[in-house]
Amino acid sequence: MRRESPAPLGHARERGATGGATAVAHPNIALIKYWGKRDEQLVLPRVDSLSMTLDVFPTTTRIRLAPGAGHDEVTLDGRPAGGEALRRVVAFLDLVRERAGLAHRAVVDSENTVPTGAGLASSASGFAALALAAAAAYGLDLDATALSRLARRGSGSASRSVFGDFAVWHAGPASGTAAEADLGSHAEPVPVGDLDAALVIAVVDAGPKTVSSREAMRRTVDTSPLYESWAVSSRGDLTEMRAALLAGDIEAVGEIAERNALGMHATMLAARPAVRYLSPATLTVLDGVLRLRRDGVPAYATMDAGPNVKVLCRRTDADRVARTVRDAVPGGSVLVAGPGPGARLLHGDDR
Ligand code: DP6
Repeated sequence: MRRESPAPLGHARERGATGGATAVAHPNIALIKYWGKRDEQLVLPRVDSLSMTLDVFPTTTRIRLAPGAGHDEVTLDGRPAGGEALRRVVAFLDLVRERAGLAHRAVVDSENTVPTGAGLASSASGFAALALAAAAAYGLDLDATALSRLARRGSGSASRSVFGDFAVWHAGPASGTAAEADLGSHAEPVPVGDLDAALVIAVVDAGPKTVSSREAMRRTVDTSPLYESWAVSSRGDLTEMRAALLAGDIEAVGEIAERNALGMHATMLAARPAVRYLSPATLTVLDGVLRLRRDGVPAYATMDAGPNVKVLCRRTDADRVARTVRDAVPGGSVLVAGPGPGARLLHGDDR
C-alpha cells in the first residue's frame, strides 16, 4: 500500500480538491469507429461511435498537486514524458485547472499495460484515468457524463472508456453554439442482450505507429474522396449495430463491425498521401478469420490506427479463434479480452 500526504491546498480543500488521487481505466475497441473531427480544439467528432471496454491492459494514473512548482512533471511508464505526449497532458491539466480555479501544477505518474501508440487504445485508457484522477485531485465534482465530456478533450476515444461494457459516444449537435456541441458530445452505456462476446487481440507489431491517429484522421477528412460516403454509411451502421447488440446477434454485430472498420481503412488508403496501417501480418490474420467463418465459426475482424487485429467472437469460440490467429502469425502475441469495467478511483489498499 502506498500512503501519500495530500499537498497543502488551503482554500482549495474547502472546494473539494483532494490534492492527490489515483484512477484506473481500461482501453476500449470501437465496433463503430470514430474517425474524423469537426472541431479539433473541442475534440468533437464527425460521427457517433460505439465500443467495447476491455478487461485487459488497464492504465493506472496517479496525480499529486504540487503547490509552488513551476511546471507539471509527467512520467509515462517510468520515463519522463516529453514532446507531444507531455504537451497533451499539460494542455489537459490546464483545462482542469481553469475549471477548478486552481493554478497548482501537478506530478503525474501513469502506467500503461498496453504497448503505447500501437493502435491499441492507450490514449483512451490513459486520458480516462487522467480525467478521473485529475478531477478528484483538483476538486471537480463530475458525474459520469461530465467526466466523459472532460476525458474527450484529452483523446476522443477516452470519452468511451469512462464506461464499462458497451458505450456509444454521441457526436453532439452539428449546429448551435460551441457550448451546446460540447454538452451534447459524451458517451453513455448501450443496452446489450445475451451476447457473450470476446475480442481476441492479435498483436502483430507492438512498435509505435508512424502516423498518429490525430494526423491521419485530419488528412483523411481533408483529402480523402471516400470520407463522406463512409461517414454517411457509418450512421446506418450504428443504428443496425444497436439493434444487433440488443438482440445478442453476434453474427450481425461482427459483420457490421468488420465492414465499418474496413470502410474506415479504405478512407485512409484514399487519402493524399495515403495512410496505411495494415501490414502483411494484418492481412494474414484476416485470411485466418475468413477461414474460421468458412468453417462455421462466427469471427469478425476490426483494426484501428495500427496493424494489430481484434477478432470479435463468442467467448465459447475464443480459444479456437486464438489458436488460428496464433498459427497465422507465429511471431505475434495473442490474448483474449472480454467486456471490462469503467474508470474508477483507487482508494487505500487498492493503490
Ligand atoms: C481508429 O481517440 O486516439 O481508434 O481524439 O485525436 O486522440 P484523438 O484520437 P483517438 O482516435 C481513435 C481512433 C480509432 C477509432 C476509435 O477508437 O473509435
